[in-house]
Amino acid sequence: MHRREFLKNTTISGTGFAILPTGSLVAENKKVKIGIIGTGMRGQNHLELLLKRSDTEVVAICDVDEGMLTMAKKLFADEKKTLPKIFTGSDFAYEDLIKLSEIEGIIIATPWEWHAPMCIAGLEAGKYVGTEVVLGITLQDHWDVVKAAEHYKGHLMMLENVCYRRDVIAVLNMVRKGLFGEMIHLQGGYQHDLRGVKLNDGKSAYGSGVEFGDKGFSEAKWRTNHSVLRNGELYPTHGIGPIAHYININRGNRFVNLCSFSTKARGMHEYIVKKGGADHPNAKVEFKLGDVVTTNISTANGESILLQHDTSLPRPYSLGFRVQGTNGLWMDVNKSIYVEGFSKPHQWDDAKIYLDQYDHPLWKRYSNDAEGASHGGMDFFVINAFIESVKRKVATPMDVYDAAAWSAITPLSEQSIQLGNQTVDFPDFTSGRWMSRKPVFALNDDF
Ligand SMILES: NC(=O)c1ccc[n+]([C@@H]2O[C@H](COP(=O)([O-])OP(=O)(O)OC[C@H]3O[C@@H](n4cnc5c(N)ncnc54)[C@H](O)[C@@H]3O)[C@@H](O)[C@H]2O)c1
Repeated sequence: MHRREFLKNTTISGTGFAILPTGSLVAENKKVKIGIIGTGMRGQNHLELLLKRSDTEVVAICDVDEGMLTMAKKLFADEKKTLPKIFTGSDFAYEDLIKLSEIEGIIIATPWEWHAPMCIAGLEAGKYVGTEVVLGITLQDHWDVVKAAEHYKGHLMMLENVCYRRDVIAVLNMVRKGLFGEMIHLQGGYQHDLRGVKLNDGKSAYGSGVEFGDKGFSEAKWRTNHSVLRNGELYPTHGIGPIAHYININRGNRFVNLCSFSTKARGMHEYIVKKGGADHPNAKVEFKLGDVVTTNISTANGESILLQHDTSLPRPYSLGFRVQGTNGLWMDVNKSIYVEGFSKPHQWDDAKIYLDQYDHPLWKRYSNDAEGASHGGMDFFVINAFIESVKRKVATPMDVYDAAAWSAITPLSEQSIQLGNQTVDFPDFTSGRWMSRKPVFALNDDF
C-alpha cells in the first residue's frame, strides 16, 4: 500500500479519536463480543471485570492448561453467565478462536513469547487487539506487529494499566496544567521482588520460588526462564507508559536512544539455596538477568529518563516514579511533591494534598465502578477503555505505536548490555508521524 493511501485510510495514524457519527448511539444497546486468549492469573483478572459488565459478552476463551480453564469456567458459573466456546488442545488453538466471525475484540494474556504472533493473527482477522504487556521479544517482532496494524488498518492497545493508576493519572493532570513547569527528567521502573513465585498447588509456601519451568505454577512456568536466558530491562511498560504520556512520546516527542547497565546476578541463586538447599537442582542454574538493570533514555525534546528493573532482590514493591520539571517534582516513593511558589522552600509537601485536588476526571467519574477491581481499581479503566473503543469502533487511546515504542526498550536494552553498555538508537515506528500526531490519552472523563 502507498504511504499516502495508508495515511488517508487509517484511523490509527494521526487523528486519534475519530468517533463515527452514529457510533455512540449505536453503541448504547450493543454487547461487545470478546474472546480471551490465555486464562491464567491475568486473563482471569480481565475475565472477572468483563463478566461484570452489561455491555460485554465473553463468547470464547482459549488456554492450553486444563487447570486454568477450569478456574476460568468457574468465574462464568459464579456470575451465572453462559459458558463460552472453549479452545484448547494445542498451542495454536487460538487461531480457531480468532476465526470466529462474531468476535470483535480479543484479549491476549499469555506468556510474552506468544504476544507478537497472537497480535498479528488478531489484526489479520480484523479484530481489535488488547494485549497484555509486552508486545514481542525481538525488535523484529515489534516491527512485524506495527506493520500488521498498518497493513490491516487495525487497532491494537497494550493493556498498560499503570497509566490509569490514580496518583499516576492525577500527576498527568498536573503536568498538563503546568504545575511542574517544563518537563526535564523522569524516572520509573519495575521494582518488585518476584522471587517468591508459587508451586504447582498455587499456595505452597515451602520451597516457594525455588521451582520453575514445568514444576512451576502460573508465571513461574515461563517468566523465570526469561531471567535465566536474558539480561536487560525485561519489563519496561509499567514505568515507561505513564512517563510517555507525561512527555507526549510519539505525539510531538520521541525516544532517541538508550543505554543500559546491569549488575551481577546474585538474588535468585541465593534465594534458591536459602529455600531449597545447596543441593537443589536449581541451585546449579546460572541466571543471566542482573539483579538491578538501569536504563537511560534520551528524548527528542531534551528530557532524560531513568528506568530501573529490580525483581530478584528482597525489597518492597515500588515503581519509583519521579516526574521533574523546571518548577518542581513528584516522587512516589516518599509520596511527596515540591512546587516552587507553593511549597515551603526546600521542604516536601504531602502529595495527597495535590493528588486530591488534581484527581483525574476519569477517576471522579468511574471510582465507584472501579471499586474492587484488581490493582487498586486501575484495571477497570484499562479494560473499560478497550471495550469502549471496540463498542464505538474508534481508535484506542493507546495504540500500536505506543505499544511498540514502550516495549522495544527490552530488546534495545539487551542489545546495549551485550555491546558493553553502548548507546543504541531507537527506531521510529511512526515513520516520522510522531511530529504531527497529537496527544489523545485521557483528555477528558470519557474513557
Ligand atoms: N498488567 C499487569 O498488571 C499484569 C499483571 C500480571 C501479568 N501480566 C501480564 O499478563 C500476561 C500473562 O501473565 P499471567 O500472570 O497471567 O501468567 P499465567 O502463566 O498465569 O497465564 C498465562 C496463561 O497463558 C496460557 N498459555 C500459554 N501458552 C498458550 C497458548 N499458546 N495458547 C493459549 N494459552 C496459552 C498458560 O497456560 C497460562 O494459563 C503476561 O504478559 C504478564 O506480563 C500483567
